[in-house]
Amino acid sequence: MAPKTYDDIQVSRLQLAGAYLEMLKAQPGRPLAMFAPRRVGKTFFLDNDLAPVAKKAGWLPVYADLWLQKENPLAAINHALAEALDDATVPAGELGKVAKTPVKRVGVLGASIDLGDAPARAALPASPELQFDALVARLHAASGKTVLLMLDEIQSLGEVAGSEKILAALRAVLHRRRDMLGAVFTGSSQEAMARMLATAGAPMYQFAQLLDFPALGDEYLVALANHFSKVHPGKRLDLDDLRKTFARIGFKPRLLRDLVKSMSAEGMTDFDEGVRRYIHDARQTLGWNALLQPLDAFDRLLLAAIARGKPPLGQETLKEIGRHRPVGKATIARARVAIERMRGAGLITKAVRGGARIDDPLFAEYLATAEPEDLLGG
Ligand SMILES: Nc1ncnc2c1ncn2[C@@H]1O[C@H](COP(=O)(O)OP(=O)(O)O)[C@@H](O)[C@H]1O
Ligand SMILES: [Mg+2]
Repeated sequence: MAPKTYDDIQVSRLQLAGAYLEMLKAQPGRPLAMFAPRRVGKTFFLDNDLAPVAKKAGWLPVYADLWLQKENPLAAINHALAEALDDATVPAGELGKVAKTPVKRVGVLGASIDLGDAPARAALPASPELQFDALVARLHAASGKTVLLMLDEIQSLGEVAGSEKILAALRAVLHRRRDMLGAVFTGSSQEAMARMLATAGAPMYQFAQLLDFPALGDEYLVALANHFSKVHPGKRLDLDDLRKTFARIGFKPRLLRDLVKSMSAEGMTDFDEGVRRYIHDARQTLGWNALLQPLDAFDRLLLAAIARGKPPLGQETLKEIGRHRPVGKATIARARVAIERMRGAGLITKAVRGGARIDDPLFAEYLATAEPEDLLGG
């Protein structure tokens, strides 16, 4: 069916989902960890492709966004499992509602977990680590299905206090419950994920299988071009230009779609001009200036230097930044702190070899082409 608007264009990747599921089946207890930068389509894929394919294959997908609950990731996981358990145990229909009101039971859980038939509402163990284990067992018992735990933005785990303990629990449960549990992780920070999953000595060492999550291919680009030609009969977007631009903006489908929409509004087919206008469009610059607002002069110029590909801790870079009057002292120590702060705010991501990158490629182009005076003005 032809899409009605640009926003309706969706590419499903059921084959890729099927391949991931096969990998999970082939190595019980070993999670897949898929990496891709932000907004490349990981969550969309879990939701639209992997979950339905897994369901069809008789699994029970359970999704938890760990970034949303950065402070308490294990609670987020347990909450998602408890909800799934609720769905699995509450009968549908009118009685369901009554049965859903919590019933306090006296009973000791410990021994019954391993039998897998503990009543769903019996008291859970107090520690979140043990709760996690118990919930998996109960969910499996209640549903009769293999649970597919989808943990989105797993690198959040590395950022909380006591993360080693959580990771160790995750690993232990995934191993112990491997006949009833599989897991897929996603991550947006290659650096954080690599550190978490592959650092010698860390509990996840050689545990998860790291995969590069592939960007969307030509199918998406062709669909955009086809819709463009439908809107503008006689005009067409060049597929090669689309490919180049998609790469230029970091393979972010929604960003490409917004760009094509803005070009379509003016019937424009030249991508260089399209990107230039998109970057300097007031809607964009207002948003970006809002991101710059909380930063001081030093941070702003450091960000611009990173956007230009300069080493942020380099002497030359800092000397250049220090030349601008409002900056004050431009030192390495100050740059380190600034990078951490901007990383925390999601403005930059750390590259694997210690470098830093602006997360949004168009924001990076904007910063790289802006005059220092413009950046310091806002
Ligand atoms: N397969 C796809 N087809 C069409 N649009 C997609 C697809 N995958 C992602 N997108 C678009 O990109 C946006 C960002 O994707 P998302 O899954 O949230 O990225 P991530 O989880 O990697 O940060 C989505 O909101 C959607 O608009
Ligand atoms: Mg996501």
